[in-house]
Amino acid sequence: MDHRELLAQAVKAAEMSYSKYSGFSVGAALLTTDGVIFKGCNIENASFSLTNCAERTAIFKAVSEGYTSFSAIAIAGSSDRDFSKPCYPCGACLQVLSEFCGDDLVIVLADGEYRLSDFLPKRFGEESMK
Ligand code: THU
Repeated sequence: MDHRELLAQAVKAAEMSYSKYSGFSVGAALLTTDGVIFKGCNIENASFSLTNCAERTAIFKAVSEGYTSFSAIAIAGSSDRDFSKPCYPCGACLQVLSEFCGDDLVIVLADGEYRLSDFLPKRFGEESMK
């Protein structure tokens, strides 16, 4: 899967964004190691803290469909439909991604490609509790 195409899928996912409070639309496209793409958008709530980010929507969709192995995620965010600026993943989403993805997960943004370890060099995981 071409990573530019994955980013285009993230922009498409942002079209479904439910973001009436922030006005900031986010889309994510998560690529499984089987080559399946799960899209997700941010879903806000009048009780603001219940908002779900696009990345977590995508990963929860995938895991709930039986997919737990991922190779890349593209993320696109904008308040004005211009997706040329990077939308960096928030800490909560990095933590959720880290549950299922290794350091080498590719994160595709408008300004280039990163690895999960670029944003989360150390992680709290099951090893931390031993
Ligand atoms: N948001 C995401 O969807 N993903 C992130 O990684 C950062 C923030 C959403 C949450 C909220 O709906 C809006 O962006 C503004 O914070």
